[in-house]
Amino acid sequence: PAITFIHADGKSDRVETSGGESAMQAATRHGLDGILAECGGNAMCATCHVYVDEAWLARLPAMADDEDALLDGTATERLPNSRLSCQIMITPALDGLVLRLPERQV
Ligand code: FES
Repeated sequence: PAITFIHADGKSDRVETSGGESAMQAATRHGLDGILAECGGNAMCATCHVYVDEAWLARLPAMADDEDALLDGTATERLPNSRLSCQIMITPALDGLVLRLPERQV
């Protein structure tokens, strides 16, 4: 599957992944700017915040309570389509997923 990350300045990066990893892991493995992931994917830091493209929002699994709580502490405003990219596991069904990056993570 491939994921497209759209940066706050409008530039985009397409990241290929074989799946079995989170969107955050795919992004950091590609050295993508814009995702810090300070806690390494443990849903503890909120520096992997993304805005999910509206067309994809309903196709993602529901968020767990810890993700929901942590999203209240993001550096940029939480919106209805906010998620933590470390909690989005990439599956073949998510091929083409579009995630927008916030202006900052801290
Ligand atoms: Fe820390 Fe996602 S990497 S919450």
